[in-house]
Amino acid sequence: MAENNATLTVDGKDYQLPITEGTLGPSVIDVAAFQKAGYWTYDPGFMVTAPVESKITFIDGGKGELLYRGYPIDQLANNAEYLEVAYALIHGELPNAEQKTEFYKKIHSHTAVHDQLRKFFEGFRRDAHPMAIMVGVVGALSAFYHEGFDVNDVRHREITAIRLIAKMPTLAAMSYKYSQGEPFMYPRNDFTYAENFVYMMFATPADVNFQVNPIIAKALDKIFTLHADHEQNASTSTVRLAGSTGANPYACIAAGIAALWGPSHGGANEAVLEMLDEIGTVENVPAFMEKVKSREVKLMGFGHRVYKNFDPRAQVLKETCDEVLHALGINDPKLELAMALEKIALEDPFFIERNLYPNVDFYSGIILKAIGIPTSMFTVIFSLARTSGWISHWLEMHSEPFKIGRPRQLYTGETQRDFVEIEDRK
Ligand code: SDX
Repeated sequence: MAENNATLTVDGKDYQLPITEGTLGPSVIDVAAFQKAGYWTYDPGFMVTAPVESKITFIDGGKGELLYRGYPIDQLANNAEYLEVAYALIHGELPNAEQKTEFYKKIHSHTAVHDQLRKFFEGFRRDAHPMAIMVGVVGALSAFYHEGFDVNDVRHREITAIRLIAKMPTLAAMSYKYSQGEPFMYPRNDFTYAENFVYMMFATPADVNFQVNPIIAKALDKIFTLHADHEQNASTSTVRLAGSTGANPYACIAAGIAALWGPSHGGANEAVLEMLDEIGTVENVPAFMEKVKSREVKLMGFGHRVYKNFDPRAQVLKETCDEVLHALGINDPKLELAMALEKIALEDPFFIERNLYPNVDFYSGIILKAIGIPTSMFTVIFSLARTSGWISHWLEMHSEPFKIGRPRQLYTGETQRDFVEIEDRK
């Protein structure tokens, strides 16, 4: 990578800061020299901070481009299976036929969970949010895979990736079944990854002839791909930061699930449906938009830290939405409401001036609802899909020497002062 320098002049002294170019996107300025000058950088929300170098995913927010290992997201979503994409995120290339067979075989042989893990679910109330359950049970996996785990052994790291990708659908479906008071369904290895998830979610032991709807399975597999990775987003950065301490990887993924749950991040898909329910009809849109402009509420599913153009995933999901609802013969007024909302927002100066476009969460909820997934499970499905991205970043971090993440701060608190006895305090 080509290098040249930026010059920082502070307190009358010049410091040369190396500039490093990537293969795509902005170059970076190495600010380590700030320490010599006695300064730290200040960048709340990491708006312009690159804490890592990565080869996994590239986003061009201005153009609305998203590449996984160089492959455009729309090509992957429309042509590859999710497990092929997961393989590419981990290994850097789409698998050839032999690699694909081997990887699928490994995943299928790790879809079951330790039977004792079932007891963790019983501690939750039946109405517990499935994301709360997922944080708990995925974190609990660390108890089953800790003794003898050597994070410095690449084989241990690789089997961890297989186990997590394989078990997330099983745990996700269990969190749903638990909330329904229905028995857990064991995974079936004669199904594809997405078919298996549909089966574990909606089949019951009594329904021995349960048929997986191929339209639903295909739509879910595409949704998994669209949510698989997204560079250094909040939850991926959480996984990397937790991983930088050498923590158990299952615990790191649980931390990523916790971060994803927030409505500003992966929780937005659930919030979009709640917002559409609140608006109700197209006639109520203008009044709702006034609440958005007065900053009373956010237009959920709109806006993005990086995309200042269309989120390419939203584009694919919008097409998929039309296809799935048509194929299933569903006429969902929420889709019409969402399309009306999108049209109004895209023509409104408030949103145009702020580069606010639909993001991945704007349409995903409508499709998930159409294929029978309850709203509370939307972010669980996001976490299932994003596990391949999280674990790819964790593997990438461990593939070479790294430092523990330890940001500093701008301190604006009290200067030093002496202790005050209780009787002398005001
Ligand atoms: C995901 O990082 C990733 O890659 C995330 C993700 C992934 O795949 O991992 O893409 C998944 O999290 C998608 C985003 C889902 N979240 C939502 O849909 C929630 C609604 N969106 C907003 O909360 C917001 O847009 C964020 C959090 C997504 C981005 O916020 P930023 O980049 O910090 O921008 P900001 O809050 O500083 O907003 C800039 C301006 C502000 O206006 P002013 O007050 O300065 O006049 O835009 C406004 C904001 O008020 N704004 C919105 C808005 N989003 C930003 N106004 C109304 N509705 C919105 N949705």
